[in-house]
Amino acid sequence: MNILILGSGGREHALSWKLSQSKRVTKIFTAPGNAGTVESGTNLNVDPGNFKAVKKAVLDNRIDIVVVGPEAPLVDGIHDFFIADADLANIPVIGPSGAAARLEGSKDYAKEFMIRYNIPTASYKTFDHSTLREALHHIRSIDPPYVIKADGLAAGKGVIIAEYLLEAEREIEAILGGKFGAAGNKVVIEQFLKGIELSVFVITDGDSYVLLPEAKDYKRAGEGDTGLNTGGMGAISPVPFADAAFMEKVKTRIIEPTVNGLKQDGISYKGFIFFGLMNVKGDPYVIEYNARLGDPESEVIIPRIKSDLFELIEGVAKGDLAQRKIETDERYASTVMIASGGYPGDYHKGKVISGLDTVNESVVFHAGTKISDNKVVTSGGRVLAITSLGKTIDEALQISYRNAALINFEDMFYRKDIGFDLKD
Ligand code: AMP
Ligand code: GLY
Repeated sequence: MNILILGSGGREHALSWKLSQSKRVTKIFTAPGNAGTVESGTNLNVDPGNFKAVKKAVLDNRIDIVVVGPEAPLVDGIHDFFIADADLANIPVIGPSGAAARLEGSKDYAKEFMIRYNIPTASYKTFDHSTLREALHHIRSIDPPYVIKADGLAAGKGVIIAEYLLEAEREIEAILGGKFGAAGNKVVIEQFLKGIELSVFVITDGDSYVLLPEAKDYKRAGEGDTGLNTGGMGAISPVPFADAAFMEKVKTRIIEPTVNGLKQDGISYKGFIFFGLMNVKGDPYVIEYNARLGDPESEVIIPRIKSDLFELIEGVAKGDLAQRKIETDERYASTVMIASGGYPGDYHKGKVISGLDTVNESVVFHAGTKISDNKVVTSGGRVLAITSLGKTIDEALQISYRNAALINFEDMFYRKDIGFDLKD
């Protein structure tokens, strides 16, 4: 089997690393990939958003299955593009159709879906330009902190948590005024949920699902969960508070109603579902859905899958996932993300990375790297995810931190407190 993975981050490197271990997989291609994915296969200089170029790459390289990493091509309908194209219709795409990816692509749709299927989530109201006055009236009637979300995809910047009314009012006006373009045609104002977040993942063929390991992500740039929001600065799996009783609630109250609800709505969902959850006093609530795996969560959940990930992917492709099993590693996995100075604001690119060959016991997943003049250089804000396994969170983290210290590039930084809140 030849597989094409779309994307270029740590998630895609983790997928290519894992799939390259499968006896069932012949060749792996990643488009566009990074300096890490070349270790598992071949990089193709193709933009995942250019579906015609993806088609050419699929046919030229005799691809049997396409695995989509990021959300944008899914929301833009890459799955539907394959189904509608006579040359591609038989090639399965792991990743939902555009209609199903609206779970991530439209917060208003996701909210409406959850309310309809009684899936626990923060209460909310949606407004558009014609109801701006009502939105401002509504925000004045509720207590802070105020949770304000642009409806569509806004490159991870579309959620604003405001402490003060004035800031909240300005945000609503800015979003509906076009700050995020069409992604802000609607604004969702929701109840603030107080608790601890975690990320839960399933893979589904639209009928049944397999639960993957869960993870906790560290989103803020600074230690002690301070500073700006990022894509994620590190992750831990498993999550100690996600015990059997909690996960049973997640399955019965959230995962099953979601998978069954999509089916009932006649929406075919084939791929990963990422449930961004809040544990509120032992009860799970959905903060958001994503139509893909998380990053850096993938860099801890994928290394904990002991069985062949290709078997699950094939189960989605063939629609027989119910007969497939997953085997997971009991140990803890930690990943520490090394970022480029300035991230998540402006940062430099093209910095030469040294020390990669000295890493031992950890796996280094490349997130924002490329090869230039035969050297590995930085090409993104999040650069390398240093993943380790250990019997305890501490043991895994010690290995990750020992190896992070072996890496060097100008202005690099990483959080020194990943997992701090989960240790015994
Ligand atoms: P997102 O960009 O959708 O991942 O959201 C960013 C972050 O905002 C989430 O990870 C949460 O920490 C926070 N957040 C979103 N919605 C809520 C809510 N209703 N209550 C509390 N925090 C929230
Ligand atoms: N780490 C969060 C995300 O992938 O959206």
